Amino acid sequence: MSDKDFPLRPAAQLNYRAEGIRARDGKSLGLSFDRIADRYDTTRWYPDQVMEDILAVLEKNIDPERPILDAGVGTGRFAKPLQDAGFTVVGVDISARMLEKARQKSVQDLLRADITALPFKDEVFGSAMSVHVLHLISNWKLALREISRVTTGHLVSVAFNKMESPAEELRRFYDQTCADLGHVVHHPGMREREMPEVFEPDEEITITMHEHPIDVRNIISDYSNRTYSNQWMIPEEIHQQAIEALQERYDGVDQIIGRERISLLKWSADRIWEFAGDLAAK
Ligand SMILES: C[S@@+](CC[C@H](N)C(=O)[O-])C[C@H]1O[C@@H](n2cnc3c(N)ncnc32)[C@H](O)[C@@H]1O
Repeated sequence: MSDKDFPLRPAAQLNYRAEGIRARDGKSLGLSFDRIADRYDTTRWYPDQVMEDILAVLEKNIDPERPILDAGVGTGRFAKPLQDAGFTVVGVDISARMLEKARQKSVQDLLRADITALPFKDEVFGSAMSVHVLHLISNWKLALREISRVTTGHLVSVAFNKMESPAEELRRFYDQTCADLGHVVHHPGMREREMPEVFEPDEEITITMHEHPIDVRNIISDYSNRTYSNQWMIPEEIHQQAIEALQERYDGVDQIIGRERISLLKWSADRIWEFAGDLAAK
């Protein structure tokens, strides 16, 4: 499978009046998940009941009568069950390998495109969703502007809000070790779950509290394999030292607890258009 299977061009076969992607300098592309596509589903897995709870709330907050944009569809974690439930979902992603995984699961209507230059005419979607995506895009305001340009109703996101827990401590320890060694671990963009701090949602619905045991060996192995996108820019030497520090600190610990409050965030496209436009103008 190569990029030719999902060329970064509008998919003419989609009936959403695709227009040409605007010429850009290439720097607007977010962090592609090509490198993690094979491991994405196993490392971002949630129990069936948690997924059912999320989908039940999601389904009530998207327009069933109109096409839905899944911006940064990935392997189709949400697009697949929504399509199975009868929603018309169009999935957009810059990663050909993530799209290929989605296609293997029979996700329909997939398009390789950059969210900051969506190949769609204005207002073709009723609802849009972006889950775990905007933190990867340095020009996240432009991404929001584009999403709101093509959407008439709402943008929804599922926020996985990390609560204080031993798992959070472990994450902080790794980040702090890297910082002490000279690399500040960060994402290029803005996490959807942090957006309410700068732009109040129209609605936030708590879906569930998710508390779960985490096998320490597995999480250190995930860290060691640079599973998380904020690790991809860490120099190898710093990364290796941080892993050694983690192994030493957690020697003899088998399990730790992780805690998340999972919520649905919802903004009207009109408000986002104004918000993102204001920010872009600054
Ligand atoms: C963490 S995954 C989330 C996938 C899916 N939304 C989910 O919740 O499972 C982020 C996805 O955003 C994609 N992505 C990053 N920047 C993008 C951009 N500028 N345009 C389109 N997709 C982008 C990545 O390739 C990746 O597949």
